[in-house]
Amino acid sequence: MKALDLIIKKRDGQSLSAEEINFLVQAYNNEIIPDYQMSALLMAIYFQGLNNKETNALTAALAASGEILDFSFMDKIVVDKHSSGGVGDKVTLVLAPLLAAAGAPVAKISGRGLGFSGGTIDKLESIPGFSAELTTERFLELVSENNLAIMAQTANLTPADGKLYALRDVTGTVENISLIAASIMSKKIAGGAGAILLDVKTGQGAFMRNRDEAFRLAEMMVRIGKDLDKRIVSVVTDMNQPLGYAVGNALEVKEALEVLCGAGPADVKRLCLVLGGYLLALAGRVRNPEEGQAELARLLENGAALQKFRQMVIAQGGHPECVDDPSLLPQSAYSKVIYAPQDGYLREVDARKVGKVALLLGTGRAFKGDEIDAAAGLVLRYKVGDRVAKDDILASIFFSRDYVGEQACRELLDAFSFSDEPVEPPPLIHGVVPPFPV
Ligand code: URA
Repeated sequence: MKALDLIIKKRDGQSLSAEEINFLVQAYNNEIIPDYQMSALLMAIYFQGLNNKETNALTAALAASGEILDFSFMDKIVVDKHSSGGVGDKVTLVLAPLLAAAGAPVAKISGRGLGFSGGTIDKLESIPGFSAELTTERFLELVSENNLAIMAQTANLTPADGKLYALRDVTGTVENISLIAASIMSKKIAGGAGAILLDVKTGQGAFMRNRDEAFRLAEMMVRIGKDLDKRIVSVVTDMNQPLGYAVGNALEVKEALEVLCGAGPADVKRLCLVLGGYLLALAGRVRNPEEGQAELARLLENGAALQKFRQMVIAQGGHPECVDDPSLLPQSAYSKVIYAPQDGYLREVDARKVGKVALLLGTGRAFKGDEIDAAAGLVLRYKVGDRVAKDDILASIFFSRDYVGEQACRELLDAFSFSDEPVEPPPLIHGVVPPFPV
C-alpha cells in the first residue's frame, strides 16, 4: 500500500477500507508517513468525509495504536464518563466518587486543560500531594480495590490520536465531526470501560457551539460505541453559561466538595444525578435512570460519596485534611469584585468570555506545558434569569499576578448582559441519545 494512492483515493471521494485506514494510522504513528502526506489526507477527509465504516475503522486503529486497558478480570461492569469540555465543569470530581459509592467501578482517564476549558487532572492536582500520574498497573489495582481511580492520559494510550490531533490543530482539520468522534471514542475504547456516558456540551463555552452539530456528534459517538460493543449513552448539555459558580482549579474542587456534602449549586448537583442515573442503568445496577438518580441522591446526603472522594485522595497521595477543610487548598494572593452596572435580569453570562478571563487569571494554559496557578479563578454570584440590583456583587476574582486584576475585571463584566424583562433560564439538558431505555 502507498500513502499517495490512498490520499488520491480519498481526495476523489472514494471510501477507504479498514485495512487501508489501519495501514495509514500505523505508518503515521511509526513515522513512516510524513506530516505533509498525513496533512493532505486529513484535508481530503475534511472535505470528503468518512462513512460509518471508515469512522469505526479509524476509531479502532487509533485505539490499537497503544495499550487497551482490560477490565475483564473484574466481575462488575466498569464505567467511564467523558465531557467534551466546558467552563466550570467539575462534574467528574463529584460523579466519579458518587458512582463508586454506588458500587460501580469507575476507571477515569482525564486530560489537562488546554485553552479556555479546564481539565479534571489540573483540578485534582490542586489538592496538595495529589497525583494523577499513575502507572497502568496501579490504575487497574485502584479500580479493583476502591472502585475508583482517576489517571492522567499516558503516552501509551492512543499515541496515534495524540500525534494526529496535534497535526489537525495546525492544519485547519480539527472541525470534522468524524475525526472528532473517532478521536474521542478511540480514547474511550482504550480506557477499557464497558459502560460509557458522554456529556456533549453545546453553547458559547463548548467545543460544539451549534446545538444540531452537538447532537450529530453525540449520535455518531453512540453509534461507534455500539458498533464496538459498548453500552453507551450521550447526554447533550448546556454550556452557554458556566456550570455552577466557581471557575478555577482549587475553587472548583471546593465547589465539588460542597456538592459532595449534599449542598452546592443546583445545576452541578442535578447534572451529576442525571448523568449518574444513566450510567448506573447502563451498567445494569438499577432498573432505570430515575432509580439510579434516587440512589445517588441518597449517597450524597448520607456522606458516602464524600467518603469515597476522601479515599481516592488518600490513595493518590493527596492530603485528606483538605477534604474536611477546603481553606487548606491553595489560596490566591489577591482578590477583587465586580459590581452590577444596572438593575435587571441576567440575560447572559457568556461561558467563553468567562473561560478566557479565568485563563487570564492563571487557571489554565495558553500552550501545552505552561505553568498553571491552582488558586486562581473566579466565583460568580448569579445564573442567567436571576434578578440583580445595581451595585450588587456579580463575581469575585482571585489571582496571584497583581497586574492582571484590572483587565480581568473589565473583561469579566463584558461577559454579562442584562434585560429589563424577566429572562427564562436556558435548559440544562438538551437531550439524550439514544432516548432511554436503550
Ligand atoms: N477532543 C478530542 O479528544 N478530540 C477531538 O478531535 C476534539 C476534541
